[in-house]
Amino acid sequence: MKFFVDTAEIEPIRDLAATGLLDGVTTNPSLIAKSGRDFMEVTREICGIVDGPVSAEVVALDHATMMKEAEVLRKIADNVCIKVPLTVDGLKTCKALTGEGTMVNVTLCFSANQALLAAKAGASFISPFVGRHDDNGFDGMDLIEDIRLIYDNYGFETEILVASVRHTMHVLQAAKIGADVMTAPPKVIHDLFKHVLTDKGIEGFMADWAKTGQTILK
Ligand code: G3P
Repeated sequence: MKFFVDTAEIEPIRDLAATGLLDGVTTNPSLIAKSGRDFMEVTREICGIVDGPVSAEVVALDHATMMKEAEVLRKIADNVCIKVPLTVDGLKTCKALTGEGTMVNVTLCFSANQALLAAKAGASFISPFVGRHDDNGFDGMDLIEDIRLIYDNYGFETEILVASVRHTMHVLQAAKIGADVMTAPPKVIHDLFKHVLTDKGIEGFMADWAKTGQTILK
């Protein structure tokens, strides 16, 4: 399972990239606004930190302008992945861009039928928002299961990118279902490392090691 981080903040991206476990980054207009940074500038900086896909979202709602915006965004770096909304114009843009060899992430997916459309449009990634699905009284993971089944039925190569991940259980459930990618805020990724018994175990080993009076490095 690939791990993307869902942020436009540079320091957490650098920090996670240093673990060697980070496969990409996702941003959206809200995250860019939160960063307070210039969109082009921060996207260029992120693309220089990670080798994998960096999603940068168009903000136009019509196909022609989406194409113009994508043209600007894809010149930032080779690893830019153009993010488009799951609308008719978004999928027209997806089809055109992937036909030209540009990576596309189709975002704001809330139904398996929408995911089917995105796959037919040649999307590189489909982003179902599990947290927002849960918030509205649905089970986000049912959506991931349905998309996995449909994509496997037809051999679609579109990668399921589980988004709007709010906690570690979302990551576990998505991995059990076989989602290809998950994108989560830095805190959720850091939470994956934690276990009280790991901390307790280290504490015990350190205490016993101190009793030996030995050192490994002379
Ligand atoms: O990747 C999509 C994500 O940024 C949305 O997350 O928590 O705002 O629903 P959230």
